Amino acid sequence: MKSFFSYYKTYHLMQNQTIKRLNFSNKVVLVIGGTGALGRAITRSFIECNAQVISSYITDSNIEPPNRETESRLQLIKADTSNEEQVEKLVSDILAKYGQIHIMVNVVGGYLGIKTVGELEEKEWDKMMTINLKTAFLISKHVIPHMISTKYGKIVHISSKTGLKSNGYDSAYAASKSGLIRLVESLSEETKESNINVNCIMPSIINTEANRKAMPTANFEKWARPDDLSNIVLFLCSEEAKVITGAAIPTYGLA
Ligand SMILES: NC(=O)c1ccc[n+]([C@@H]2O[C@H](COP(=O)([O-])OP(=O)(O)OC[C@H]3O[C@@H](n4cnc5c(N)ncnc54)[C@H](OP(=O)(O)O)[C@@H]3O)[C@@H](O)[C@H]2O)c1
Repeated sequence: MKSFFSYYKTYHLMQNQTIKRLNFSNKVVLVIGGTGALGRAITRSFIECNAQVISSYITDSNIEPPNRETESRLQLIKADTSNEEQVEKLVSDILAKYGQIHIMVNVVGGYLGIKTVGELEEKEWDKMMTINLKTAFLISKHVIPHMISTKYGKIVHISSKTGLKSNGYDSAYAASKSGLIRLVESLSEETKESNINVNCIMPSIINTEANRKAMPTANFEKWARPDDLSNIVLFLCSEEAKVITGAAIPTYGLA
């Protein structure tokens, strides 16, 4: 009988082989919100897998390419992706320069919790709907027609475990991430005849610096790391995952 260790070794080997085999050379990848904690990991992973990456941000934050050799494969563009004019310009500027967007990963989002619905302000509700849902709608609206015209596209949005089941005190966040799952389903149905895959992942708590600071006594080992999640995102954007569309993938770690 095989020991747990030998199963673990085989699994680990398969995982490494899968990740190493992914190659996105000649692919133009747009990462919206690519400078946040998860966005940085996704941006770097695509660069390491030879893609040309355009990463959008809203505040002036720095992201370094993995090394100088790969510097030319990263372009940073500032854009508020909750504003339709700026989204339109972002997409048309990229198409003018690179000719095509093969892959789009939307990492823009934010959390608001620990409030009853009575405590929640209208502007807080609107903010959750804007960054978690409207941004996903706008970027999809402007990227998908281009992907349909080229009959190729991979899209991944980032929802949340809370989009499936709220634990209370997070109504705006939960409703916005839940709406995102339905948006992904609708988009996948609209695009499946055009060789386009649209999926989302549903992380629970991610092992980010912000979460470690906010919950210093938690067991961080139970949380998915940004690199664990970027592996799943890259897989969904690869030809290996061409039969997956309209899915909301649980990526909870042990949280
Ligand atoms: N962290 C978690 O535990 C967790 C759990 C479940 C789901 N998620 C989801 O995972 C995703 C990434 O989370 P994270 O922890 O990496 O978040 P983060 O570090 O706060 O990154 C969020 C990103 O969104 C960008 N952004 C915010 N508003 C924007 C706007 N209007 N236009 C353009 N970009 C905007 C930010 O840009 P700047 O860097 O320029 O400000 C940043 O790049 C989010 O969708 C989040 O909801 C996170």
